[in-house]
Amino acid sequence: MEIEKICSKARQLALDGYGDAIEKSFHAAYEAGQAIKELYGKPHDVQFKGEIDLVTEADYKSEAILTSALEGLGGAELMAEESTHDLTKREGRFWIVDPLDGTTNFAHGFPFFAPSVAFAQIDEKGYETLFGAVYVPLLGEFFWAIKGKGAYLNLDEIGVSKERELSRSLLATGFPYDVHQHPDDVMAAMKSMIVRAQGIRRAGAAAIDLVYVACGRFEGFWEKKLKPWDTAAGILVVTEAGGKVSDYKGGTYNPFVPEIVASNGLIHEQMTDILGNFSCQPTNT
Ligand code: IPD
Ligand code: CA
Ligand code: CA
Repeated sequence: MEIEKICSKARQLALDGYGDAIEKSFHAAYEAGQAIKELYGKPHDVQFKGEIDLVTEADYKSEAILTSALEGLGGAELMAEESTHDLTKREGRFWIVDPLDGTTNFAHGFPFFAPSVAFAQIDEKGYETLFGAVYVPLLGEFFWAIKGKGAYLNLDEIGVSKERELSRSLLATGFPYDVHQHPDDVMAAMKSMIVRAQGIRRAGAAAIDLVYVACGRFEGFWEKKLKPWDTAAGILVVTEAGGKVSDYKGGTYNPFVPEIVASNGLIHEQMTDILGNFSCQPTNT
């Protein structure tokens, strides 16, 4: 995988005035992923943010690499998982950063994790991710997208799967960190989906689940209570690859909405017909 070639391709496709920001942020996502990879398999300094919610030295190292590269770049503020605790400011331009999506996997030596970096604009018209990247360092897979310019895995354009039947679809989901306290809703949704899908995977990194929908490895994905940094980059990769994202009822999704359905578009209604029963969103938007 050659990051220089990816960055130069992304720069050619860049939206006006964003060439530098795209190139530097994609480079930083790559460097962050490489730093995590170097720490993989070594003993970890694991701390608990909650009962089952971990943070390791790799999360902090990756976040330091990303924040120092992105600070002030593109006139945007930083919203990063390990240093941003106030998510109420929602107007302007933001770098939305998950330094290590899949921390539990990383801490257990399960090689499915990635930094995720997105550049988003929020104004009176609503939320929009303009470009983003998710880099899976153990597999050498760099997923990226630029609004209106397509979605890519390394240097190749990617597209969603063409499967139309839920019963032939491989889906992904995840469980929120308060699942010990609230297992019923999660399990009820899972029970309704498991009898309809061909298969369900819970691999433990929402950003990767999303880009796997984008490249057709999964037909669909759903999860509740994700944070903006889990989905901000992945949703653009999905939509630029021809897929669809919504809330559980089929209403508008943005990374501040606490429930997401992402799919190839063709099975979307079949998913929202089921998941709509478990929605916490007030009305269809
Ligand atoms: C988590 C992963 C996981 C999802 C959790 C997320 P983290 O992110 O994306 O798949 O189920 O809800 O919080 O904590 O590893 O960055
Ligand atoms: Ca995450
Ligand atoms: Ca994380």
